[in-house]
Amino acid sequence: MTRIAAIVPAAGRGERLGLPVPKALLQVGGLSLVEHAVAGLVRAGVDVVVVAAPADTVDDVRRLVPLATVVTGGADRCESVRLALDAIPADVDVVLVHDAARPFGSEDVVRRVVDALQAGASAVIPVVPVADTVKRVDRNGVVVETIDRATLRAVQTPQGFRRDVLVAAHESQNATVTDDAALVEAMGIEVQTVDGDARAFKVTTPWDFSVAEALWERGNQ
Ligand code: CTP
Ligand code: MG
Repeated sequence: MTRIAAIVPAAGRGERLGLPVPKALLQVGGLSLVEHAVAGLVRAGVDVVVVAAPADTVDDVRRLVPLATVVTGGADRCESVRLALDAIPADVDVVLVHDAARPFGSEDVVRRVVDALQAGASAVIPVVPVADTVKRVDRNGVVVETIDRATLRAVQTPQGFRRDVLVAAHESQNATVTDDAALVEAMGIEVQTVDGDARAFKVTTPWDFSVAEALWERGNQ
């Protein structure tokens, strides 16, 4: 049977949210974002969870998610994932990477990602259509071009990888990218997409945090 591990990068400060608490420790409905994220992964059947936490909160995070292995995160998301990868047990075949900042909606997504990996994919990312028209602008904010929206997708997590592929991707380069799939793409390995879920949005700004609270209050998470 496939052993599935999940890495939860939770070591960011949440600068765009602008609160004194690290974002992963912020609570919605009495549970921190990292607790929600880990609980969703465990409900979806993940066997092993490794969380990368800010150095000064490692002990707090260990108390909050006792099922998980907690390591100190790095200076950027990429480094946090790399440090967590080192703590994945040897018998794991598939590794998911899931932002602590996405507290809801991951259960169905995990299933779709894992199904695609079990069907033979090396790398799988959940995506959603882009609602707004997207334009490229120059340094002065002047429109350069309109990009055909039909070909665009917004990318979520959990992203899933064959373990050897993710390890090779993180060993291959140090470029700071905002998702792991970009490292895999750069190696020339095909990255497949599956449907994401609107509920798996990332809490980035105060607006997003209000949305998370509202969803929780309505039981729509
Ligand atoms: N992350 C991490 N280590 C870092 C930076 C980010 O583990 N050094 C994690 C965050 O904790 C988050 C995920 O990567 O769960 C997605 O990053 P983002 O939403 O950008 O979170 P922050 O970096 O905390 O937010 P900001 O960029 O606004 O500071
Ligand atoms: Mg960030």
